[in-house]
Amino acid sequence: MKRVGIIGCGAIGTQVALAIDDAKISDTILEFLFDTNPDAAKSLTGKLTKSTVRCFSDFSDLISSTQFKTSNLVLESASQAAVRLFAKRLLELGKDLIVMSVGALADDQLLSDLLASLDKNDTNLVLPTGAIAGIDAIRSVKEVLDSVLLITTKNPKALEGAPFFEKNRIRLNSITQKTTIYQGTAADAILNFPSNVNVASILAIAGMGMERTRVRIVADPAIHYNQHQIIAEGIFGKLDIKLMNNQAEGNPKTSFLAILSAIETVRSSSRKNFRIGT
Ligand SMILES: NC(=O)c1ccc[n+]([C@@H]2O[C@H](COP(=O)([O-])OP(=O)(O)OC[C@H]3O[C@@H](n4cnc5c(N)ncnc54)[C@H](O)[C@@H]3O)[C@@H](O)[C@H]2O)c1
Repeated sequence: MKRVGIIGCGAIGTQVALAIDDAKISDTILEFLFDTNPDAAKSLTGKLTKSTVRCFSDFSDLISSTQFKTSNLVLESASQAAVRLFAKRLLELGKDLIVMSVGALADDQLLSDLLASLDKNDTNLVLPTGAIAGIDAIRSVKEVLDSVLLITTKNPKALEGAPFFEKNRIRLNSITQKTTIYQGTAADAILNFPSNVNVASILAIAGMGMERTRVRIVADPAIHYNQHQIIAEGIFGKLDIKLMNNQAEGNPKTSFLAILSAIETVRSSSRKNFRIGT
């Protein structure tokens, strides 16, 4: 039985909580909700019909609670800051952890700290495929890859708030036609578009690393979905995958597919004896 806690009660956290509450994920109980915005956790609690959960907005209160002690799986669906602040501690406290804000793990030191604590604490760290596809294939061919390129195309509104625009003094409403606004390494893309390119991070971790994975960001006012194209080449051949993701309800930066991926990952965590895919 998985006893789940959710950190971050926005677009992803809400739908995962509802899926657990609705028994769409079997053998799983929801124990706690944590959000630095207490209203977010409270409003989500109001939508649950079967689960009895406790809400927290202070991490010390959370980790001293019975609900935390009872839980064995935590879903992070909050922010890169939350990963930096809480991930290591959660693993040290013996919790299995699913991280959605994978962009935080572009920091090699943080990733190796987390990996080092897995064996020590006998815990599991899972990075869901999220808003893309093909991570299984990228992992399989990682030793024979010559190049990996991610082309992310979004409506400028879905890129709003990215540090890139302020840094380069670009006004979003000045983009009136399809424009390539950025090209660089995964490491640099994540600094410039932290809320938008978690996919660059997971792709780099699975494949060629942060410095050798290339990212192109295209702003297109005519599209209303989030498009990710992955082009990888090597002696295995060529992989070319394009996803046209509908946006999540409540957060246009997040793809609906990322929510479904989070739900499926929680589901797989309670069925460790059967796995489909590499
Ligand atoms: N891996 C992927 O493919 C993928 C896809 C989409 C989104 N994401 C990432 O997943 C995360 C959640 O996405 P979302 O669309 O649900 O976001 P959201 O903005 O809808 O919700 C995030 C919630 O987390 C809370 N929060 C923020 N920082 C926190 C902290 N330090 N501690 C506790 N709570 C905190 C916010 O108050 C908010 O309620 C984001 O970091 C996003 O970039 C990853």
